[in-house]
Amino acid sequence: MARLADLMHRSVFKAVSLLGSKGQGAVLRRYFDWWHRRPDPWHLSTDSYERRKYLTTLEQVPAGSYRRILEVGCSEGVFTELLATTYPEAEVTGVDISETALERARERAGNLGERVRFVHADLLEHDLGERYDLVFCAETLYYVGRGDRLRHASDRLGALLAPGGLLVLVHPWPESRRLHGPADAALSKVGERVDHEAWRPYAVSLYQGSTRAALDVS
Ligand SMILES: C[S@@+](CC[C@H](N)C(=O)[O-])C[C@H]1O[C@@H](n2cnc3c(N)ncnc32)[C@H](O)[C@@H]1O
Repeated sequence: MARLADLMHRSVFKAVSLLGSKGQGAVLRRYFDWWHRRPDPWHLSTDSYERRKYLTTLEQVPAGSYRRILEVGCSEGVFTELLATTYPEAEVTGVDISETALERARERAGNLGERVRFVHADLLEHDLGERYDLVFCAETLYYVGRGDRLRHASDRLGALLAPGGLLVLVHPWPESRRLHGPADAALSKVGERVDHEAWRPYAVSLYQGSTRAALDVS
């Protein structure tokens, strides 16, 4: 039953991705603002499965000092806040296509100071103009739809990495093989953990960008 619901969900977002990228962005913006009409629509702040996934994700990141951290598809900033408390010296940025979600993210992170900020942008169109030591993208890539949009999204995520930076992708397993496939092809995979025990298994895949210079994708 859950698989059928997932199939229908993916088909809807693949259909939206038949639009031009501006049209797709406009539909996603309206959809995710509507979806966030009520606070925390996925129960990210209270669900024990989500909490476990967040902690498993953080466990995969090698110890180190990361100065600039980005979360793409941050919703209301639950994981962004955890990143900010885990890395108290880092500048942490959350990006989402829903301004409604970001208003709540800013409220949530209100006591964390100016080192935490939120930017309204489309993963497929953004022009953040900055590079990051750590980039996270979880439970978001299945919204970008067809294969060429997925490759484009992966290229843009890779282009956000500072030299030697790490990209962490987290999506349901085994669908993660398709969703993380373009990153597998373009970047060096340096680790993966699949949590098979969770009721909805997921993969945390870790990639390292080029140690010389970031790619420029536009
Ligand atoms: C399921 S939530 C994931 C939240 C968070 N990553 C987590 O795992 O806790 C997916 C988020 O991705 C955002 N999103 C979807 N498509 C996007 C796009 N093209 N650009 C930026 N954000 C997007 C949605 O607005 C939503 O807040």
